[in-house]
Amino acid sequence: MNKKRIFSGVQPTGNLHIGNYLGALSQWVPLQDEYESIFCIVDYHAITSLNKKNSLKNSVIEMAKNYLAAGINPKKSIIFTQSAIKEHVELTWILNCVSARMSDLENMTQYKDKADGKNKENISVGLFDYPVLMAADILLYDTDVVPVGHDQLQHIELARDLAKRFNYQYGETFKIPTALIRKQGARIMGLDDPTKKMSKSAASANNWIALNDSPEIGAKKIMKAATDSEAIVKLDVDKKPGISNLLTIYSLLTAKTVKDVEKQYAGRGYGDFKKDLAQITADFLSDFQKKANAFSETDIKEIMRSGAEKIKPLAEEKIKRVKLKIGL
Ligand code: TYM
Repeated sequence: MNKKRIFSGVQPTGNLHIGNYLGALSQWVPLQDEYESIFCIVDYHAITSLNKKNSLKNSVIEMAKNYLAAGINPKKSIIFTQSAIKEHVELTWILNCVSARMSDLENMTQYKDKADGKNKENISVGLFDYPVLMAADILLYDTDVVPVGHDQLQHIELARDLAKRFNYQYGETFKIPTALIRKQGARIMGLDDPTKKMSKSAASANNWIALNDSPEIGAKKIMKAATDSEAIVKLDVDKKPGISNLLTIYSLLTAKTVKDVEKQYAGRGYGDFKKDLAQITADFLSDFQKKANAFSETDIKEIMRSGAEKIKPLAEEKIKRVKLKIGL
């Protein structure tokens, strides 16, 4: 039986944080054995909000190192750069014209957040259209499943809607993808404000732990993380968002269940718990960075070249069919 296909991607904007790692990358690793796996570095998405466009090539290489350090295996999975396959942009334009509506995009929460408080003169059309490019990424490869963090759910809903609309109008063309959101870790919260998701666009660097933060900095950020005054290590997302977020991170980095971690710290307060998590985080960062640095730029370029070569015929075939359907 043919394996089902997964597709996912990350923007090469700056460095990843542990939210991206725990919500997305680490989830992809075990899926590689079960699915035909395609992982993209979405540089066309990155230019929707990037200031220093010339640093992007370097960021793509760094991102690929992160994929590999996380455990993505280029012998099992295809890794490639979005801009290497022009069909992503072709399909975006077709979906823009044929299936997507202004009202769809105006409703996207991520766009609303990013555009919030900004003058429309300073918002690129690309930022507005970003979810259609994401839909094109997914639909171009007949993707079955899209493993992502919680914040991407609305974008995947849109990809489903666009596919259904196209199929309805022109006959069966696109597979309808489904999102795969992990139960734990799909929404890692900011360390300084655990009521909002961890995000690189947060005002303070104490919000996130970047995968390239030094182990010392990573440990310090955990020690500084916001908690409550109850001093009981227990998961309660509504009443104890800070400690619940740290428990989730602890559980995912050690592969222990939250229940076991709670038991381990019963009656011991936050001091011991935070000190141990700081050490666990520092060890994780140091190990991750060692793995990432083991790959040379030449290795990476070859992996990406070969990934693009494998994927190109799939994209060409699909776009040919789509053009035929709409009469181009
Ligand atoms: P991006 O680059 O913002 O984020 C990459 C992945 O990290 C997840 N994530 C989180 N998970 C848990 N907790 C958090 N605080 C957190 N922050 C981010 C995201 O959900 C995502 O899975 N539009 C996408 C990239 C993209 C894509 C695609 C994804 C483009 N085309 C096709 C899947 C399929 C994005 O900007 O992700």
